[in-house]
Amino acid sequence: MEKTFLMVKPDGVQRNLIGEIVSRFESKGYKLAGAKLMSISQELAEQHYGEHKEKPFFGELVEFITSGPVFAMVWEGENVINTARNMMGKTNPSEASPGTVRGDYGLTVGKNVIHGSDSPESAEREINLFFNQDEILSYEKQD
Ligand code: CMP
Repeated sequence: MEKTFLMVKPDGVQRNLIGEIVSRFESKGYKLAGAKLMSISQELAEQHYGEHKEKPFFGELVEFITSGPVFAMVWEGENVINTARNMMGKTNPSEASPGTVRGDYGLTVGKNVIHGSDSPESAEREINLFFNQDEILSYEKQD
């Protein structure tokens, strides 16, 4: 079954949005396969956002994502990578549609509440970066 990596960013955790965000993906029908509240080290942040290394906002990005606890998750279900991105809304909350997480709760492009993998390759990379294999659980026997 397809899996993706989603993360409630420090602004979302601080604003008590973990429950609301988890609820949206549960209600949609996806299965939570892994989750943890954690702090991101400088090294992990630089690896996670490696593709943005040359961007002018890279320093700001790393500083923000390491500024407080995040809630890292693995979700599974049919077409979850794309559908989760649609449910998150556009990166810039001012362009995100109402009804999406960023459209409903996001304020700025930096503090945009949630991160989600943008492709199967990113999903695999990000899941492996944040989770050990034994932290990802299976629902196979219940399906
Ligand atoms: P995310 O999905 O976590 O992936 C990269 C992040 O870079 C993105 O969400 C935004 O929060 C952030 N980002 C994109 N553009 C800018 C910008 N101009 N200034 C600050 N952060 C940005």
